Amino acid sequence: MDAPAAESKLIDSFKMHVAGIEGANLEQLHALSVSVGWPLRSEDLQFLRECGHGYVARDEIGRLTGSAMWFPHGDDFATIGMVITSPRLQTNGTARWLMDHVLSDCRGRNLRLNATRAAHRLYHSLGFQPVRTIYQCQGIVRRLTDLTPPTEQSVVRRLEGEDLAAVVELDTGAFGVSRAVLMGKLFAQSIGYGLFRGGQLYALALCRPFGRGYVIGPVVAESDADAIAVIRQHVAAHENKFLRLDTPVETGTFATFLSQSGLTVFDTVLSMSRRGKGRADVVPGPSLYGLASHALG
Ligand SMILES: CC(C)(COP(=O)(O)OP(=O)(O)OC[C@H]1O[C@@H](n2cnc3c(N)ncnc32)[C@H](O)[C@@H]1OP(=O)(O)O)[C@@H](O)C(=O)NCCC(=O)NCCS
Repeated sequence: MDAPAAESKLIDSFKMHVAGIEGANLEQLHALSVSVGWPLRSEDLQFLRECGHGYVARDEIGRLTGSAMWFPHGDDFATIGMVITSPRLQTNGTARWLMDHVLSDCRGRNLRLNATRAAHRLYHSLGFQPVRTIYQCQGIVRRLTDLTPPTEQSVVRRLEGEDLAAVVELDTGAFGVSRAVLMGKLFAQSIGYGLFRGGQLYALALCRPFGRGYVIGPVVAESDADAIAVIRQHVAAHENKFLRLDTPVETGTFATFLSQSGLTVFDTVLSMSRRGKGRADVVPGPSLYGLASHALG
């Protein structure tokens, strides 16, 4: 985006002004996300604001009609999320206008986002390319029948503060770039399990309150068996509760374990990326079994 993003715009019959999301009223932001059927709690929105930057569109009497955010991970990479236009005003160019502001801030960075169906065309026209499908698995957890313990060589245990450096390193390999700051914040509000062999961390799964209940993510593992070993404790701890996990894995024993536990595919989003100037694409590896969230990747 080379042209500077305009500060105001006529949308339908409303004159909208753009403002930083950091100053937006949290209740209004919550109302905006509820208006498009998203399950985020105001705590989740506040957490996103603490992790990223972005914009809101406001009409002349201060109502929020749109939002768009970006989340830096290092100097060269960011994820994009919270792209919302109030239903009453959709297809009038609000999202494109707010995305122009975000892309202007992110100039030169590699970018990744998870696009809902309604947003495919917008992102495609802004130069984003499809990467892979993400399956939003969720539901009320059923009692586990398969309680096979991990293999003899593996130990699964709760992650502690001293494990954070190993957690960040393993996540970096899976996510494609270090997101140490975010991982520190997620770690502080999550319960985590790690799978160790010979004292080294091979797989991890964090779980925190989110949306309608709890979300497991990120999940990093080298195999379905290891991924199941680290999410099993979280699943067992949430029997009869609402649990969610967003995964690129469609088939195999991990996907079967999720559906047998009550986490069935509720929806899909399309992971899309856009390259920064001259920099190699940041590609998520096969070991990223679960996302932290749609917005955070
Ligand atoms: C996706 C969303 C943000 C688009 O907002 P918007 O303000 O309507 O988008 P714009 O008016 O700027 O439109 C941008 C482009 O997408 C197209 N578009 C918008 N809504 C569309 C729809 N429902 N179906 C097909 N195309 C659509 C527009 O025609 C436009 O394309 P064009 O410039 O080639 O004509 C909005 O539909 C929304 O808030 N949906 C619910 C939340 C959501 O899914 N957010 C996306 C998260 S990734």
